Amino acid sequence: MCGISGVAGLTDVSHILLASIKSLEYRGYDSCGMAILAQRRIEIRKDVGTVDEVIQRQRLYEVHGLLGIAHTRWATHGGVTSVNAHPHRSSDGAFAVVHNGIISNYRQLRGELEELGYVFSSETDSEVIPHLLHFYYRREQDVERALQCCLARLEGSYAFALLTTHEPERLYCAKLQSPLILGIGSNQNFIGSDFNAFIAYTRSAVVLDDHEYAVLTNDSYRIINALTSLPIRKNLMHIAWDPEQAQKGGYPHYMLKEVFEQPQTVSKVLAIERGELEKLARSLFDAGRAYFIGAGTTYYAALFGQYQLAELAQLFVPAISSDEFKFGALVDAETLVVAISQSGETYDTLEALRFAREHGAHTAAIVNVQGSSMTRLVDQVIMQGSGPEICVVSTKSALAQMLILTRLALVAGLLRGTLSAVQYDEREAELRLLPAVIQRILNEKSGFINTIARRHCHVNDWLYLGRGIYYAVAMESALKMKEVAYLHAEGMPGGFLKHGTLALIGEGVNTIVFTPPRAQRELHDLSLGSTEEVKARGGYLIGIHFDAEPSLYQDQVQLPEMPAILGPFAQLVVGQLLAYFAATALKRNVDKPRSLAKSVTVA
Ligand code: AGP
Repeated sequence: MCGISGVAGLTDVSHILLASIKSLEYRGYDSCGMAILAQRRIEIRKDVGTVDEVIQRQRLYEVHGLLGIAHTRWATHGGVTSVNAHPHRSSDGAFAVVHNGIISNYRQLRGELEELGYVFSSETDSEVIPHLLHFYYRREQDVERALQCCLARLEGSYAFALLTTHEPERLYCAKLQSPLILGIGSNQNFIGSDFNAFIAYTRSAVVLDDHEYAVLTNDSYRIINALTSLPIRKNLMHIAWDPEQAQKGGYPHYMLKEVFEQPQTVSKVLAIERGELEKLARSLFDAGRAYFIGAGTTYYAALFGQYQLAELAQLFVPAISSDEFKFGALVDAETLVVAISQSGETYDTLEALRFAREHGAHTAAIVNVQGSSMTRLVDQVIMQGSGPEICVVSTKSALAQMLILTRLALVAGLLRGTLSAVQYDEREAELRLLPAVIQRILNEKSGFINTIARRHCHVNDWLYLGRGIYYAVAMESALKMKEVAYLHAEGMPGGFLKHGTLALIGEGVNTIVFTPPRAQRELHDLSLGSTEEVKARGGYLIGIHFDAEPSLYQDQVQLPEMPAILGPFAQLVVGQLLAYFAATALKRNVDKPRSLAKSVTVA
């Protein structure tokens, strides 16, 4: 959740460090800080606020040196205060640490250290790390030994970076369950929570695994297994992302940029080799039972997959929210669990996968971030290739995942014989129209959707209704509205409405109906039924439809005619734009909504 970075350079690194932490700001943005080592002294500056605010208020640009670490925080333990912001230091000022994760035994460690006379200045779990380092350094008189002793005491999850006046040319970092990556440059080396920490400077990376720590200078690095103290050789990974893709490129927000990138995102998914999908389809056939799992948006992508597999391949692969997986699923050696994740670092999803593996299950994942923990944990991976998604709310990545699951369902249908070769070819050909269809919606409907969003952005309560696969679209679209516009939007199946929620319909509640094309006769007619139920009770209706009777709705977004298989994707784009424009009309922090973080790496 928090972003950490570190740089060891030959010349002043402070401007690199600030750029780096700014690039990681989507991981957490309630406070930030940095520590720079110069002339055998560590200077720490930190405060609450965004990176830009803290840079200006604390004049971070005034601090210079060849070695530094920085942090942008998403508070877990301890309120959002300047004192709780990272870096944290040891009482003698010799160690400074930035940490991401949760030290689960910090109360016990803090108690022990306090008994020894250590004074804590913050409420964080993280502060135990510099004090432990100080304690063990006094005993061992060696930084690396002190780090090893410290790691042996820490429980929970961590990725942390440290610098120390005892070794003014070296950065240290360590990892357990929270992501940590080294960037290997020329005359400068980096530490980052993810590639964005250093992709502007180098595309060579080394991904650390659990129980590993690393020692870096500006021209060397070594990695050690913390459990055995033995050195580890690891291959350099080339980061496939283009650094340009991580820039806003003239758009006012990353969210809008990423929504507008979707025609290219789709093309990337369409380029995924059929053989890859076949492999996963065969794993689904081989499994005694299979699940799709995800969290938040990726749970809705999973739900989307459930509907597609059922319809196109007549396979039942239920979707389960990752955080509920171990309580609601049956897992054994015959089970396949397919996880969906943009970051590949989401704690709940990783935990569900670990649980599945412990029970002997086979695992697979659809992931966007190369080298992420999930890609290394599972037996089988499909990389979605969507490029960096910087906005905290997921848009292009979700669409890509839903499309991959659709292609998987088509391949599975073909292999199982629920689709003929002709039907399969027709559906695949239809999917190839999707980039142009999305482009047309972006070009022709954005202005119109903006008008609707502005007209209604002051309505606090929204119902999002969909039937069949459009139910998944409604759920995801409602989540977008909640996340980015902070409006209460509840998604549900249209048929569910009459079983209670109908009581809410009236003044002050808007209902959006995701109506399928007329060609999907049953779903279309059922959606009209839900629409009538709302209308009869005087509810305000906004229709997103293709060919329904316009007089049914007070407001509407009518989409062009298109093959039925494209309908849910087209409506998803409308849902994204509606949320985006409502958020901008309400002057929300679009790319970094309050209380959220891009990748949720804690329980
Ligand atoms: C999406 O808009 C959300 N920010 C959130 O629900 C997200 O999809 C979820 O936390 C899963 O993240 P992941 O895809 O990185 O695993």
